Amino acid sequence: MDKLLITGGRPLHGAVPISGAKNAALPVMAATLLAPGVHRLRNVPRLRDTRTFAKVLELLGAKVSFDGNLCSIDSTGVNSVEAPYELVKTMRASIYVLAPLLARFGAARVSLPGGCAWGPRPVNLHLAGLQAMGAALDIDHGYIVGRNVKLKGARFGFDVVSVGATAQLMMAAVLAEGTTVLENVAVEPDVTALGDVLVACGARIEGLGTRQLTIQGVTALRPIDTTIIPDRIEAATFAAAAAMTGGCLKLERVVAAHFEAALRKLEEAGSTIERAIDAVTVTGPARPKAVNVVTQPFPGFATDMQAQMIAVCAIADGTSVIEDTVYLDRFTHVPELARMGASIELKGNVAVVKGVERLSGAQVMATDLRASASLVLAGLAAQGETLIDRIYHLDRGYEALEQKLGALGARIQRVN
Ligand code: EPZ
Repeated sequence: MDKLLITGGRPLHGAVPISGAKNAALPVMAATLLAPGVHRLRNVPRLRDTRTFAKVLELLGAKVSFDGNLCSIDSTGVNSVEAPYELVKTMRASIYVLAPLLARFGAARVSLPGGCAWGPRPVNLHLAGLQAMGAALDIDHGYIVGRNVKLKGARFGFDVVSVGATAQLMMAAVLAEGTTVLENVAVEPDVTALGDVLVACGARIEGLGTRQLTIQGVTALRPIDTTIIPDRIEAATFAAAAAMTGGCLKLERVVAAHFEAALRKLEEAGSTIERAIDAVTVTGPARPKAVNVVTQPFPGFATDMQAQMIAVCAIADGTSVIEDTVYLDRFTHVPELARMGASIELKGNVAVVKGVERLSGAQVMATDLRASASLVLAGLAAQGETLIDRIYHLDRGYEALEQKLGALGARIQRVN
């Protein structure tokens, strides 16, 4: 089992190329099922999750090949509608194949994803939306099963803003018969980017970027040929690294507007931020100031940056209050940070973080993707050595992280 060994205390300096967004690439990979043909996706990050998604597509009969960050998917030969538990349990986003399979084949047998490292991850909105569109779905031995489905346009409102359910229902609606109106949709850049890709393939979607989408079903779509947008969470994670190590990092190939809430919070904590067209330069303070954070759906502060922000606040001057309103139990990083000397009191979905001068390196364990990132950040700022175990969690969502950090002056290596 790979581990990361980090010797902390060194400011990071230099330019870092930000990879394509995992959470934008996965739904687009699923969307290739909507139209037979050869689809070309550029800037796809080489991650465990994109490789797992490729395996799911291959199990369905598609042909997937990677040439660097170019992913070619031939979905002509798709001849199965089953996404098995063995793969879905390792990556919840596999459920994205459900709507495209129903839309193209009228049938699907997709494993329910189950929970994740920090708690339950319901999919009730995915199912309710599809059922509103005429899909009679059964739950059979842990699988979502649809047969003889003919998707029809419908009006559906989301009780909760959901990235995944919005992407799922957008993919269901583009080939459905008639018009679909979706209300209270997610407007994360990953969702808007999916909509843009579908429109480029001939879909008729109005309202992208707003809370209401009106989708006119069409009979067929053209194959996808697109470049995946930059990863705003990777970018914000590197921005936090500059803030914690008192360094200066130029984040290249980014869209500042996609992580503006995180940038503003780091500015409030004392970093200097320069925004350019496709780059952001972050200069960290000698020591961050304490700040309060409440996570919200986009354009609010992303829950995917909550763990990383707790690491920043762990060494801040003062006490910070960080509340996650999206996931109430996403705090498995807290006890691991405490092993490094962080002083954090957890009260339900609120972390009260009393900043300490310095963290101390320790042996810690990664528990999920963003918790791992939080531990890497803490290790970069800590006194001495930090050994992070179970970093396969990190490999799900950060492309070549130790190479990128090493090039910025970090002392970090992968050991096993
Ligand atoms: C996406 O997950 C991301 N994953 C997550 O990133 C991210 O944390 C999350 O959106 C929120 O931004 C991908 O894009 C692959 P949601 P998703 O549906 O779609 C509730 C990472 O670190 N909900 O927006 O599963 C849910 O419990 C990952 O890259 C329902 O109640 O998240 C949560 O409280 C982790 N019923 C809220 O909505 C549903 O049917 C938001 O979840 C669906 C969701």
